Amino acid sequence: MKPIGHKLDPSAERLEWDLTELSSFRDPDRSGWTREVFSDPYRQSRQWMADRMRAAGLEVHVDPAGNIIGRRAGKQPGAPAVVTGSHTDTVDGGGRFDGVVGVLGALEAVRQLTELDVQLNRDLLVVDFLGEESNDFGLSCLGSRALAGELTAADLQRTDRTGTTLGESFSGFGIDPSAAVGVDWARRTPLHSYLELHIEQGPTLEQRQLPLGIVTGIAGIERLLATFIGSADHAGTRPMGDRQDAMVAAAEAVLAIRREGCGAPNHGVATTTRVEAASHSPNVVPGLVRMMSEVRSVDAKWLSGTRRRLGQEIQATASSYGVDVDLAWSTDNELVQANEEVQEIAASSAASLDLPWTAIPSGATHDAVHMASLAPMGMIFIPSHNGKSHCPEEWTDYADIAVGVRALAASLINLDQHAFQT
Ligand code: GLV
Ligand code: MN
Ligand code: MN
Repeated sequence: MKPIGHKLDPSAERLEWDLTELSSFRDPDRSGWTREVFSDPYRQSRQWMADRMRAAGLEVHVDPAGNIIGRRAGKQPGAPAVVTGSHTDTVDGGGRFDGVVGVLGALEAVRQLTELDVQLNRDLLVVDFLGEESNDFGLSCLGSRALAGELTAADLQRTDRTGTTLGESFSGFGIDPSAAVGVDWARRTPLHSYLELHIEQGPTLEQRQLPLGIVTGIAGIERLLATFIGSADHAGTRPMGDRQDAMVAAAEAVLAIRREGCGAPNHGVATTTRVEAASHSPNVVPGLVRMMSEVRSVDAKWLSGTRRRLGQEIQATASSYGVDVDLAWSTDNELVQANEEVQEIAASSAASLDLPWTAIPSGATHDAVHMASLAPMGMIFIPSHNGKSHCPEEWTDYADIAVGVRALAASLINLDQHAFQT
């Protein structure tokens, strides 16, 4: 592979063109480059994506879970496929690179293989997974979750803030929800391996001036939907010592959650992302407040203790204000380790191209979490400018993306030949 590896020369210009085109599919009424799952811009962008896959020579289909799959046939029909890809939906107010780099970078890798006349033994599948970002339903990675058999009928009953169910959203997007839950091609047909290219979304690589990170593991995520039930009252007349103010109890919980994150021994973070009073009036003591928070870590022991510690503290503080709390926890994803052999292949491929790298944990979640239950999984990170992500300032230089694509393409060539020991 070494001679071919050194000939790999992905085009930063082609990557820039593709990324710029895709970023034009955005919600004009939201900030940044918003292209949320089930939205019109997302629907339109998927047609463009399927066309770009075809233009790169891939045979394209959309599976029952809404994943767009481009196949490059290998020399050995029936051999378990090597899979790469990521997602093209964004968060509200998000950027242009998160996920997109893994799909459009994979297409550039495919073009490179074709230009260099490299035929792999195995099929190579490039997947644009449906709806990776966590949404109003509180569930991330819809497409990869479904593929792994981890999307349940109960999940389809989750509602967003308008009361629409996830199942109804699937139907409105032209996907039969029961077919999505039942999608099983990836469990019926063994897959050989999964390798995803992604921006780091944090500051480590840039600070250490390294072009590549090889991911060791992906943080687990515990989500909390808390409802604080106090007593609505007149804000001008109810004395301060005689209130059951749900907002104050929620505010204490926000700070408790922050303290929990600050106390994590290894990589651990805790964030409250939304606090909403039921009444929108400016002169009402809030009687009902809903709060959304999440806790993440690559330290399973610490993470498993967070529900108990936070539950006790939030309940006790709320009751000191005369407020009741309902705490609904759910695990968005368990902590997942990357496969060691995939890490070694990515590392040796990078080293063979004289590209320095570091081992790095991922605090963000990825489709790779769910693909790990289907095949040996790995990820390659490239630097994020100022470590910023999930915001309009998210940026990675096109030349840095091209370096990531070189490492991805070389790793895919090596993975194709690899017989896993474990
Ligand atoms: C996805 O980007 C997540 O980490 O929530
Ligand atoms: Mn992502
Ligand atoms: Mn993201």
